[in-house]
Amino acid sequence: MDTQKSFDVTVIGGGPGGYVAAIRAAQLGAKVLLVEKDRLGGTCLNRGCIPTKAMLSDAKLYDRVEHSSVLKTSGLKVDMKQLLRRKNEVVKTLVSGVEFLLKKNGISHVQGEAKFLDRMVIEVDGPKGKEQFRSPKVIIATGSVSARIPNVEVDGKVILTSTEMLDLAEIPKDLLIIGGGYIGMEFASLFNALGSKVTVVEMLPGIIPTEDQEIVRGLVTLLKKRGIEIDTETRVKEARAGKNRAQVTVVTKEGKEILFRAEKALVAVGRSPYTEGLQLEKAGVALNGKFVRVNEKMETSIPGIYAIGDVTGRQMLAHKASAEGIAAAENAMGGKSTVDYSRIPNCIYTFPEVASIGLTEKQAKEKRLQVNVGRFPFQSNGRALASGESDGLIKVIAEKDLGQVIGIHILSDHATDLIGGPALGLALEVTVDELGKTVQAHPTLNEALSEAALDALKEAIHLYKK
Ligand code: NAI
Repeated sequence: MDTQKSFDVTVIGGGPGGYVAAIRAAQLGAKVLLVEKDRLGGTCLNRGCIPTKAMLSDAKLYDRVEHSSVLKTSGLKVDMKQLLRRKNEVVKTLVSGVEFLLKKNGISHVQGEAKFLDRMVIEVDGPKGKEQFRSPKVIIATGSVSARIPNVEVDGKVILTSTEMLDLAEIPKDLLIIGGGYIGMEFASLFNALGSKVTVVEMLPGIIPTEDQEIVRGLVTLLKKRGIEIDTETRVKEARAGKNRAQVTVVTKEGKEILFRAEKALVAVGRSPYTEGLQLEKAGVALNGKFVRVNEKMETSIPGIYAIGDVTGRQMLAHKASAEGIAAAENAMGGKSTVDYSRIPNCIYTFPEVASIGLTEKQAKEKRLQVNVGRFPFQSNGRALASGESDGLIKVIAEKDLGQVIGIHILSDHATDLIGGPALGLALEVTVDELGKTVQAHPTLNEALSEAALDALKEAIHLYKK
């Protein structure tokens, strides 16, 4: 075994939390080691955000052409092989981008599985054998894995997690999705657009319960119009993988058992933090349930050891992990950084998309805040109509006294790009008056944002209400 090499900061996990933390620590002058057992980029780049968005983009193109009254096509079909090839290319490009950034920032990257031997010593088991590293500061960024439920057999062929869904060589005729959360609804949109008959079963009274309910109701109506079946208050009792079909038994709210048969079933019931094999107990790091416990500085129960991203809980979002990574790196280098969780945008890449920042109307009411709510439908927006993408609305929630905007919720084909302006607005504590008076270029979807703010003041120009 090699003698121990020393680093100022060691980051375990190379996803959007870990690699960002490594770069930030290097920018601050640290000698940094990044350990990753798989490919750089983590779930986000390899099995999550990026591959799904590449596939959704092609599916959207197909969907638009297929339903266009202008384009005359015959024999239009999806070449799944090409779709997967393009998706893999996008992933490869971004993974090499991360490799490049690590190199240019002088970060040492070691492939292998890391475990703590004690508070400061980490052993990495990789293709080149075992190596030990000493580091006074460690950042744990090991992410999460798909959660499982009892009596649901995931064989990876017929009953799948989101990972296997990304490599399906053929579009299934029918797809049953267990769980109406972020993953379930994005895959529902994707495969519905590609031509599958999609059914979603969700045990709660509604899908995506964390989002503003008015927006979710609008989304559900539009998804159902596209032919997606959504069965709420329906719990999966068991799922068996047959030779060519999944057999899924569900229990409805009336207590009735129904057997679904589908070519494929996707299990999307959440994600669990991943700490397997890390030997956290050897470093003395305390857990909070299955998650690594951290304080507002991202520091664990052991000074000098930090944890960020999915492994710490809260929202399992790439951009939240990156923000925490930056804070942890700065703190490891003597800073006092925190993350403002009230300013983290949420994006769901359904057709149409959902994006939000700040409080929902229900959360504002729970906090007993007096609010004004403004809405603007994209049907009254010139650009949306011209583009043939006029489904949805923008909703602005402002606190009544001072007019501070406390929540913005968007349902639209381009919601996830539109949320950038609101994110900046909330960070700068924008008032509904300032947002309403912001001159937006015409014709753009952003006009709906200012109009929604004006509606909260009952001054919207392109809305007429008696
Ligand atoms: P989720 O927590 O969003 O949704 C899981 C759903 O499954 C819940 O609504 C739950 O009630 C339901 N469920 C659980 N057990 C069930 C059963 N036995 N029968 C029927 N329904 C059942 O988790 P999801 O969608 O798996 O996503 C995991 C994480 O990944 C999320 O925390 C999300 O933040 C993140 N993610 C984010 C994306 C984005 O930002 N666009 C995209 C995909 C995932």
